[in-house]
Amino acid sequence: MRISAVVLAAGLGTRMKSNIPKVLHKILGKPMIQYIIDTIKSIKPEKLIVVAGKNIKELKEAVSWQNDIIIFVKQTVPKGTGDAALKALPQLKGFTGTVLIVNGDTPLITKSTILNFLALHKKRKNQVSVLSFESKEPSSYGRILRDEKGRVISIVEQRDASEEQKKIKEVNSGIYAIENNALNLLKKIPLNTSKGEYYLTDIIGIAKSKGFKTDAICIGLEEELTGVNTREELNLAANTMRYRIIKKFLESGVTFIDFGSTFISPSAQIGHGTTIYPNVIIEGFTTIGEGCTIYPNVRIVDSEIKDKAIIKDSTLIESSIIKSNAIIGPFAHIRPGSVICENAKIGNFVEVKKSIIGQGTKASHLSYLGDAKIGNDVNIGAGTITCNYDGKNKYITTIEDNVFIGSDTQLVAPVKIGKGAFVGAGSTITVNVPPDSLALSRVEQKNIEGWALKRRLKEKRNSKK
Ligand code: UD1
Ligand code: CA
Repeated sequence: MRISAVVLAAGLGTRMKSNIPKVLHKILGKPMIQYIIDTIKSIKPEKLIVVAGKNIKELKEAVSWQNDIIIFVKQTVPKGTGDAALKALPQLKGFTGTVLIVNGDTPLITKSTILNFLALHKKRKNQVSVLSFESKEPSSYGRILRDEKGRVISIVEQRDASEEQKKIKEVNSGIYAIENNALNLLKKIPLNTSKGEYYLTDIIGIAKSKGFKTDAICIGLEEELTGVNTREELNLAANTMRYRIIKKFLESGVTFIDFGSTFISPSAQIGHGTTIYPNVIIEGFTTIGEGCTIYPNVRIVDSEIKDKAIIKDSTLIESSIIKSNAIIGPFAHIRPGSVICENAKIGNFVEVKKSIIGQGTKASHLSYLGDAKIGNDVNIGAGTITCNYDGKNKYITTIEDNVFIGSDTQLVAPVKIGKGAFVGAGSTITVNVPPDSLALSRVEQKNIEGWALKRRLKEKRNSKK
């Protein structure tokens, strides 16, 4: 079966009350239209055309980077879904096969529903089909009108429907299959004067009246076919999608302590045997390995967490790699470009930025490690700071294997601490430390015996006067 697809995304989205195009509103961090595009891509269409409006530039920027096969066409003035579909026609010249037209605001539709719909369209030898479903709340949808024998006649929009027609529960999903020899019918759609738009829905009545084999295929589930027009509908769709993703992971062996408070990106992966505590947010293209534990209030963005890593409470990890058996947190911040190697430990109130932390290395408390290359089995004492920035440029701190950095140390970069060296607590290190040596930069301690006793006695005498 030869398929090409058209996604309609040029509407104003007025009901969203937003400055961003409706189809770019996100569900679990992914633009609504990207869901449709991914689903359509999975059925491998010959062409994938997106009809965009005045926000075509934003739309291209948001989705092009992962969708090189898309052809964008512009509908300069949003004159309705019928007019939008017409704009794709020049791109379909010479195409022989079935054209799938889909509203861009139906993000929950699944591949299997689309394939079922196309298979029935083909099997019944239809030339024009619309995918319909029974809605409990049909108010915003076009109603499917059928004759006494149940044959489809046309679609009527809510605003044009009679009281009797408004009671019909079978509605239009906004998904159509049209054979290439029926595409010219798009040109026959008249202006609907009540709204001043060309309705794509009219193609059903037109096709029928001109003797084309036309049908409404009622196989859809409302949960999948909800059109998102308002922010409330966006939230409801997000809830459905959220549960769908979590269900997939539950089935593959991931434990959720409270899935109702967990948000997982549709692009994330999680290995089996991993446990996710409440209030965890996993965003973007994050992968989490097997047997990991992610404790409460953790957010992980575009990162890779390898097997058996432990992420303790209230930690933020961004665009970084955490290798196997590493332990991060509680209250740690791993900023972009960091790699925390196997068995390393990053503890309370430690911030790591664009740094490599070697195997078995520990930075357990209160530190800032930025632009640092830290070797294996290094101990970073509490309160260590890499001074990586002079107000203009950033510099690198290198700490080789088996180094011990005493607490409250400042390492003024660029600086290198050689293998096996010791840095005494409270030091400010400004020059390189050779391997296996001790570096100390603090003022030598002086004890004055009896000083405190003398002071107290003096104070006592003064108070008696
Ligand atoms: C549409 C259908 C309705 C159906 C419902 C399903 C029409 C006239 N009505 O109504 O029968 O039940 O979808 O969700 O088609 N768009 C354009 N250009 C335009 C107008 C819209 O590209 O000029 C795009 C929008 O960006 C959107 C899609 O077409 O992605 C649907 O438009 P929308 O205004 O949401 O239609 P509905 O009123 O929901
Ligand atoms: Ca809609």
